[in-house]
Amino acid sequence: MKLEILTYPNPILREVSEAVINFDADLKQFAKDMLETMYDANGIGLAAIQVGRPIQMLVIDTRPKDPENSRFEDEDQTELEAKIKQPLILINPEIVNGTGKTTFDEGCLSVPSFFETVERFESIEVRARDLDGKEMNFKVDGLLAICIQHEMDHLKGTLFIDHISFTKSNRIKNQIKKNGYPTREEMEAERKAKKKALEKA
Ligand code: NI
Repeated sequence: MKLEILTYPNPILREVSEAVINFDADLKQFAKDMLETMYDANGIGLAAIQVGRPIQMLVIDTRPKDPENSRFEDEDQTELEAKIKQPLILINPEIVNGTGKTTFDEGCLSVPSFFETVERFESIEVRARDLDGKEMNFKVDGLLAICIQHEMDHLKGTLFIDHISFTKSNRIKNQIKKNGYPTREEMEAERKAKKKALEKA
């Protein structure tokens, strides 16, 4: 079942998510619904709070996508990334170590149509649980590491627009409060036009 994705400035997005205690059938169904919702929106990651449930659960799939429908077609997977089976479902995730710095033009399904450069750890070690409550530990870099850090921010009520300069952040927040967001059709048209312009350049 497709769920509704909440967008900024919905105050629910600022809630701090709680650890999952019951690894039951309801959780498995919810993970399925989150994946369906994420794929439908052409996203690469989604946190439970983005669909209104304040629990520490993320679904992620950063594998290269169909270029027609995604802006992530050019991201080559790193060796570490390729080792991790996706889609990835992370419950009660923690970053136990982070090294290096990298930047990426991040976007968010909860702040659609806006993109800003954000700095993150280049490489991270993650500890989390799977849907059965089994602990997993892994090291990863590349787009997957960036995505995990972005999604984990949601669990603390933080959005990528909180990481950029105060001036830029305020400009975006005011623009959204004043004009709202473009429709999905408008965003698609804009993305395709940008891509065409890039191809011609
Ligand atoms: Ni996000």
